[in-house]
Parts: sequence; structure tokens; C-alpha cells
Amino acid sequence: PDLFLPERKNSKGFDLAHQPTLDAIDAARGPFVNHTWDVGPILAGKASPEAPRPVINPADPADQPGTVATASAKDIETALASAKPWDASPEERAKVLNKVADLYEENYGELFAAIHREAGKMVLDAVAELREAVDFLRYYAANAPEGQAVGTFTCISPWNFPLAIFTGQISAALAAGNAVLSKPAEQTPIISALAVDLMHKAGVPKEALQLLPGGGEVGAALTSDARVNGVAFTGSTATAMKIRAAMAENLAPGAPLIAETGGLNAMIVDSTALPEQAVQAIVESAFQSAGQRCSALRCLYVQEDIADSFTEMLTGAMDALNIGMPWDLSTDVGPVIDETARAGIAEHIQTARAEGRLMHELKTPNAGTYIAPTLIKLGGIEDLEREIFGPVLHLATFKSTELDKVIDRINGTGYGLTFGLMTRIDDRVQYVTDRVHAGNMYVNRNQIGAIVGSQPFGGEGLSGTGPKAGGPHYLARFTAHPAAQAKG
Ligand code: NAD
Ligand code: ALA
Repeated sequence: PDLFLPERKNSKGFDLAHQPTLDAIDAARGPFVNHTWDVGPILAGKASPEAPRPVINPADPADQPGTVATASAKDIETALASAKPWDASPEERAKVLNKVADLYEENYGELFAAIHREAGKMVLDAVAELREAVDFLRYYAANAPEGQAVGTFTCISPWNFPLAIFTGQISAALAAGNAVLSKPAEQTPIISALAVDLMHKAGVPKEALQLLPGGGEVGAALTSDARVNGVAFTGSTATAMKIRAAMAENLAPGAPLIAETGGLNAMIVDSTALPEQAVQAIVESAFQSAGQRCSALRCLYVQEDIADSFTEMLTGAMDALNIGMPWDLSTDVGPVIDETARAGIAEHIQTARAEGRLMHELKTPNAGTYIAPTLIKLGGIEDLEREIFGPVLHLATFKSTELDKVIDRINGTGYGLTFGLMTRIDDRVQYVTDRVHAGNMYVNRNQIGAIVGSQPFGGEGLSGTGPKAGGPHYLARFTAHPAAQAKG
């Protein structure tokens, strides 16, 4: 415990500038650097999963952290039939969720090792994952609502926050007393199994929380069965739309869908911006976590007057980034999640290269599924056909008279997750933030890393249904509404 920073409202985290803390992290992680985790469904009844498949470390194809056995159709039926809302008072549920948070902190060594080896995440990212997960647990515990649970909630999460988002959805559903059927991303089953195991150890009943590893087909089965009463989903907009259609066809009318989805996130840098501050914020927003954050900056608009000198500073800062093994403290950019992701991003870069729009790229390591930070020229955000989920930044310029046009184009994408503005004109802050449609806006800072409780996170339009995660309205959506109950 003395490794943690002093007590405060959010989780205490680790001081990574403190050598004894780094040594302690290494010691805690040590037993798990060569460990093999064999995971599968965790059910209230007997599991009979599919044959196990190997899990591969994205940074090192020679490292196989373990195996996962996908939930079978029989397992899905067992889970649906045995799911039971958590019959405990809000105070008791809160006590157990706080205990889960404590267990996460106590077991950080194993969690860090799994986050590192299964998701290819760096030390900084592992710390951020743990802190956010613990924050979600304690925040929802502190606000555990009275009132009736919705019933059985399916929680479907992405691989890019395999601990934090996985935990956030589940802890909210449990805080409100629901039964949870959790379907983690197929890329990160080990982390989810470790988390569920700790939740059960803390006292969450098995009927109230079951784990069903697998891919889209398991997710589809768990969102198209009338015994499911609500769905919390985080992932791509395309998958959210499929889920919405499946729910409309199969679930009771009015079953809640909370979907947090993708974005085409922009930042505007005008000619008054402080270039050093803007460059640092851009590098963090676009390349930290290898650009695999839904909040990450995808399209940078730089005012034409400063574009040449600014681009030179930006490419210089990119050159200083280290691409390497996730656990090396000198690494700034780790791998992308898998070969499918790598190939899709590489194809996008190749198209830009063929069209003469590649402005800057770094050298990619040979082994592992890496994409080096890359800068690509764009006419405008409307030319970006899809969310490129990796360390690829697109740059467009605008004239001083074109601010409204830029805002219209950003809004015209239909997405609205994060937005950044760099300016030293106070009136402009109000003007632009009043007009851009985005869930989370950041002025003169980076646009990633929202903090539970103080910066509720979520998008609008194609980026999400709301309510925002880690905010005061989220839990209400996991509680049965009197009007909905009256309708049956
Ligand atoms: P994805 O949509 O491919 O998968 C997300 C989850 O949905 C996985 O568990 C997957 O197995 C499951 N799934 C796939 N098909 C399904 C179906 N037909 N029915 C039910 N479930 C199905 O997304 P991903 O690649 O895992 O994650 C990256 C995406 O997530 C990006 O678009 C990113 O922007 C988004 N994201 C959004 C937020 C946010 O808070 N808004 C946070 C993190 C990630
Ligand atoms: N909550 C994460 C962030 O803000 C997605 O970067």
C-alpha cells in the first residue's frame, strides 16, 4: 500500500518516477511474465466450451500467454437459464464492489502482466487501466441505487480497455442489482477471466455474474434472446447498429441499449496556439496507447498561416517517439492489437502513399503487430472514410476565414466523441465549443484520458447513446423505470 500516492477521491495509482515503485511493480509482475493462463466460460452451472485456442502476445509472436475456450451454444443456454439478479441491498452490493476494487489493487502484478502480454499495453497504459477500473468500481459502489434492477444485462466490451471498460459496464450493472452476462472481446479473454474471478472472490454471486468468452457470434446470441432485459455495449458503431437491430427484433420493447461507440475525432489548432503545448498534446492524443483509444485524435486542422513551421515541429516530435516492447519504460508506442488490425491500418497507409499524401512515417519493428506513428495529408475530415484505429494522424489545413466551414465538416461526419481546440483567444473557445457536437471537449490540453467522476465520458450522434460512463446519470439506465414496468 505505501507504493500508492496519497489518498484522494480517485484511485491512487503509482508514481512511475519513483524507482522503488518501479522495482516493486517489476517484482509483483515477475511471477506472471512466463505464466500460462488457460481460461474459458465462468458459469453458474457446468461449462462445456469449444476446444481451446491459443492467445498470442501482439508484441511478441513467440509469447503465448495462454489459451481460451469459447463459450458453446450449450454454455450460452446455461448462462441464460441460471442468471439471477443480485438479491442484496445497495449497501451490501457497494461493499462487495469496493472489495473488488481492493482486490484489483492487491493483485495488480498479475493484472499488469496480463494487460501487457495479452493486449500489448505499456506500463503507463496498464496503470491507467487499473486506475480507471478501480475508479469505476468505487464510483458506482458509492452511487449504488435503490429501486428495481432491469433484470439480466448483457455487457459486451472491446479489447482496447480490456480491464477498465470491461469492469465499468459490469460494475454499473451489478451496482444496480442486475444479473450480468459478460462477453469480453475475443482478443482479451484472459484479463476478463482474471477480473471475473476477483469479482466472485469478493462476493458477487455466480448467478449474478457469468463470463462467456467468444466472438461476435456469442455476442449476437446474448443480444437476441428474450430472457435478456438490457444491453451495455462498447465497441464499433457498426456492431452497435447490428445489436440494436437484433434487440428490436427479439427483446421486449423498451429494453435499454447503452452503446458507446467510435469516433472521427478532430482538433483545431489556430495561429494563436502555443506550438510547444499543442505539439505535445497532439502527440499524446494521436499516438499514446498506439492510437487505440476511441478518444484518440484522428484529424488535426492547423491554420494555414502556421502550418509549415507547425508541421516541422510535429514531425520532429514524432521522430523522438520510441516504438518498442510494451514493458520497456523507454517505449512510447507499442503494438496494435493483432494482425487483422495491423493489415487494415497498413492498407490505409499504403493508399495514402500511393496517392502521394504520406507526410511522415517512422520505422516499424520487424516482429509483432506494429504500426509506426504516421502522418497523412487530408483535404478535410470528410475524406476520412472510416475510423483508423491506430497510431495514424491525418492533417488538414484551413484559412482564417474558414473556421465555420471546418466546424460544419467536423459535425458533418455524424460522429461526436472527443474534440480538441488549441487557441489563446478566449472568445473563440466559447464560439467553437458552442458549435461543435462532441461528447467530450478539451481546450489547450490533450483529448484522451477522461477521469471517472470528474469527466464523464461518452459521445453523441454515431458515437454513442449516452448516458456518459463515470457520470451521475449512467446508473439510472441500469435501473427499471417505473413507466417501463407499468407497460410490462
Ligand atoms: P467491435 O465492434 O469489433 O467489437 C466490440 C465487441 O462486440 C466485441 O466483444 C465483439 O466480439 C462484439 N461483437 C462483434 N459483433 C457482434 C455482434 N454481431 N453482436 C454482438 N456483439 C458483437 O469493436 P472493437 O474492435 O473490439 O473495439 C474498437 C471500437 O470500439 C472502436 O470503434 C472504438 O472507437 C470503440 N470504442 C468506443 C469507446 C467509447 O467509450 N465510445 C471506448 C472504447 C472503444
Ligand atoms: N476513457 C478513455 C479516454 O478518455 C476512452 O481516453
